[in-house]
Amino acid sequence: MKLWGGRFLGQTEKLLEEFNNSLPFDYRLFEEDIQGSIAHAQMLTSVGILSQEEGEKIVSALKEIKTEVNQGELQFDFTIEDIHTQIEYWLIKKIGDTGKKLHTARSRNDQVATDLRLFTKKSLQKTASLTIELIKTLIELGIEHSETVVPGYTHLQRAQPIVYGHQLLAYGEMFYRDLERLTETYKRADVLPLGSGALAGVPYPIDREYTKELLGFSKISTNSIDAVSDRDFVCDYLYNCSMIMVHLSRLAEELIIYSSFEFGFVELSDGFSTGSSIMPQKKNPDVPELIRGKTPRVAGHLQALLMILKGLPLSYNKDLQEDKEALFDAVDNTHICLEITTPLLKSMTVNIDKMSKASRIGYLNATDLADALVEKGVAFREAHKIVGEIVQLGLSLNKEITEISIDKLKQISPLIDEEMIGALDPLSCVKRRNIPGGTGPNQVIEGAENLKKRLVPFNEFWYKKGSSK
Ligand code: ARG
Repeated sequence: MKLWGGRFLGQTEKLLEEFNNSLPFDYRLFEEDIQGSIAHAQMLTSVGILSQEEGEKIVSALKEIKTEVNQGELQFDFTIEDIHTQIEYWLIKKIGDTGKKLHTARSRNDQVATDLRLFTKKSLQKTASLTIELIKTLIELGIEHSETVVPGYTHLQRAQPIVYGHQLLAYGEMFYRDLERLTETYKRADVLPLGSGALAGVPYPIDREYTKELLGFSKISTNSIDAVSDRDFVCDYLYNCSMIMVHLSRLAEELIIYSSFEFGFVELSDGFSTGSSIMPQKKNPDVPELIRGKTPRVAGHLQALLMILKGLPLSYNKDLQEDKEALFDAVDNTHICLEITTPLLKSMTVNIDKMSKASRIGYLNATDLADALVEKGVAFREAHKIVGEIVQLGLSLNKEITEISIDKLKQISPLIDEEMIGALDPLSCVKRRNIPGGTGPNQVIEGAENLKKRLVPFNEFWYKKGSSK
């Protein structure tokens, strides 16, 4: 069955069908397409384009189709062009000529744009709630580890002691920004294209506001050409997914490194680790590795859609059909990665002892000694030089700063005293960073509470969306 056979004399090539058909992937818009068609039929009835009887017949047949597909009684026929054709085919088979009236004042161009916006809105709810769950977990762990001292790194070289909670909450902030972005994307996707026709609008007295109400959109589109060609909202979503994946991937990379024997800072749970078929001792971090490995694929989909849109003449072009596989694959992978990261974090063991021991080695307190000299009136640049010499001495003696005799230290700077050196343990170092945004344990708790508060409006926004469904 085709929706456009009339002007053709020759047969469609089989190869063309295989090449052109989108049903093998756009069947996923099934619920949205039915939903859009029901609203369209109700609107057509309300303005008298369909009689009451015709409207009711179409709506109940569409509902039946939905039930029958969901119960497995109707199966997709993948030789059919797309989801819109498939549903119309079933409809006409069920109710005959009346079914042929549904496509009045509608084109597949505004139809597919509507389906995709409905799908995006629904899917965003899942992305947002998975992101919220992950942020909540990071907040809990952040508070739990507000005094767990660990080396902080720059250039992957030991830099200064921090608390692990601070590091975890850094990811909390990243995912919070992702949540803000998802919310923006939702608002931009929340516009009804239906009623734009193929590109120019339709010559019937339709009631677009009513369709909008029925489908739960906030606005109707204001330019029919733009409405059928615009995929910015898909790009927005793909960017959101890409950024989430990049954040997940950074976290994943850290877990891979931290769970290595060389670091040993965390141990992933057995339930989220895998073994080797040859090396019996192995416990492999496949989960974070796969997250890292899926990130380029999701980011690639964003790149693909941007390149599809670049240079695409107005209005609808078949190139746009390529948006769907990109979106579905990006969303599926982002969702599974978000979903698995939460229990991965919850179930891992944090090796507090190893973290603490590591933070005592590698001169992580050198900056603090320089800061202590500054307090005694030394200029920071001078203090930096003094401590540099002390580190040089420590390296030659194979000793940490706190292990070098006070006499030797005093020879380098007479201003150094025992009290100063006594305050160089990692916990004292982090406690001194008691400034908003700093790694001091009180500030970390403060940061966690602050993030919790900032989450409330988003929780409410997405919860309302979820419950209105
Ligand atoms: N399968 C098409 C797509 O995904 C539906 C719209 C087709 N419109 C058209 N004029 N050929 O974009």
